[in-house]
Amino acid sequence: MRRRLTWAAPAARSPNSHFLSPRRRRRRGRVRRAPILLLFVVAALAVDLVVSNTALELGVYTLAHARLPAAFDGFRIVHLSDWHAAEFGPGNRDLIEMTRRQAPDIIVLTGDFVQRLGELPRMEALCRGLMAVAPVYYVTGNHEWAGRVVDPLRAVLRETGVVYLDNDYVFLSRGGEQICLAGLMDQNGPRTKLSLSELTALARRGGDPFLVLLSHRYDRFSEYVSQRVDVVFAGHAHGGLIRLPFTDGLIGPGRVLFPRHTSGVTWEGATAMVTSRGLAGVGRWPLRLFNRPEVVSVTLTRPKGAETP
Ligand SMILES: [Fe+2]
Repeated sequence: MRRRLTWAAPAARSPNSHFLSPRRRRRRGRVRRAPILLLFVVAALAVDLVVSNTALELGVYTLAHARLPAAFDGFRIVHLSDWHAAEFGPGNRDLIEMTRRQAPDIIVLTGDFVQRLGELPRMEALCRGLMAVAPVYYVTGNHEWAGRVVDPLRAVLRETGVVYLDNDYVFLSRGGEQICLAGLMDQNGPRTKLSLSELTALARRGGDPFLVLLSHRYDRFSEYVSQRVDVVFAGHAHGGLIRLPFTDGLIGPGRVLFPRHTSGVTWEGATAMVTSRGLAGVGRWPLRLFNRPEVVSVTLTRPKGAETP
């Protein structure tokens, strides 16, 4: 009987074989670690996507201005903007509670709160909650006009006691002194809206009060400076949506790349602008990254040693 001779090939070299050069071994290690690293980055982005769209953050600022009347030293303003009918806890309990803890003297809302009729009941609940904390003042953003909801929104503001300040101004009194709070209607409003110079001229009819302006648009800073506004509260920028290190955000409204003045306090001359990073995303894909929804708390003070204006 013939025996079949078989021949076995020598065993293939193990991938971990010591025959690999150190350089190839390092490269192989890197290739093996890459999926783990990628998974980690994706997971971190996913976590931040949730955090940046749901977890409130408090931005605290002290703003010292030499023209501030002495009686308003310590006057605190909570600033909310670009809410877009978001929800922070049932009935926005978390948002209202964070505002309440700041013990503000007034609360200012700088537009882009609602765009659809169906959002008005939630808006009404928010207004009632905030009004239980402090007097509330409101100006419109572009979205209220785009959604044509300004008239029913005004009815909600009226019912809840919120002051609608578009094209208007009020004087706030404290300790026998006054400051002026004026509201600029968003530029998407009707033709009857006042220009900034018309509004400031009205507010200054009786003198030159310390002027606080509510205006949705952060990108009109040079106008606020030229009209000698003392302090502006603005929004609209959503913090540049994606806040990368060493930038003021990645994308501004109108798809402007690397916008400026989208967060915090910006000074030029004697004008300070406080820009809120807003409370929500915007558009069909409301993406925020590394950019938590912001409640802004500003305490107005007088610089140490400032003379009475
Ligand atoms: Fe806006």
